[in-house]
Amino acid sequence: MNILQINSSPHREGSNSTKVANLIVAHLMQSSGEKKLIVRDLAVTPHPILDETSLAAIYAPADERTADQAARVALDDVLISEIQAADVIVLGAPMYNFGISAQLKNWFDAIVRTGVTFHYTEKGPEGLIKGKKVYVALARGGRYRGTETDCQVLHLKTLLSFLGMTDIDFIYAEGLGMGPDAVQQAFVEAQNDISAVIG
Ligand SMILES: Cc1cc2nc3c(=O)[nH]c(=O)nc-3n(C[C@H](O)[C@H](O)[C@H](O)COP(=O)(O)O)c2cc1C
Repeated sequence: MNILQINSSPHREGSNSTKVANLIVAHLMQSSGEKKLIVRDLAVTPHPILDETSLAAIYAPADERTADQAARVALDDVLISEIQAADVIVLGAPMYNFGISAQLKNWFDAIVRTGVTFHYTEKGPEGLIKGKKVYVALARGGRYRGTETDCQVLHLKTLLSFLGMTDIDFIYAEGLGMGPDAVQQAFVEAQNDISAVIG
């Protein structure tokens, strides 16, 4: 089993979403069979933003790219290869201003590539990253689970499914801004979620 863990908090140390992602991975590691773990920490290795220069590189024909453009596209290629090689993806996803972190947005902007990770058919878009199991480790200051304000979960579900990843479990650590007791409770609830979905 190839496990890809993506940490997308701006924090290199002390990230709550990374803590939850680590708990998920630790649980997965307890199951039988050989495992290979790759950790992509987007705080340690931030991925470049999709700006005008990046877009020019990506849309230039491969044989016409400058050395700088080829190097920029190669950064995205590495992330795409990692996800293609994974059987299980553990995605750390902190909530920042009701959405995903800028680090995670940059990662999605790198892996969503037409003709490679999705394509359009006569019937509409088809995701090409199929057969993956995805666990999303959520960390929030407040509590939104199951409410209409949880647009982050809807966004992640929509985006992952667009790419073909439909087998998704969300693990919630919520109320992290609501005091020490709430923090303790958040991790108990996250651990309960993990036990419920992984066993
Ligand atoms: C700039 C900023 C924006 C935040 N926005 C939200 C938010 O919209 N909703 C929420 O519940 N918590 C919010 N939080 C709290 C974080 O979700 C919380 O600190 C969480 O632990 C972050 O995950 P991390 O530790 O993995 O980075 C925000 C925190 C910061 C610093």
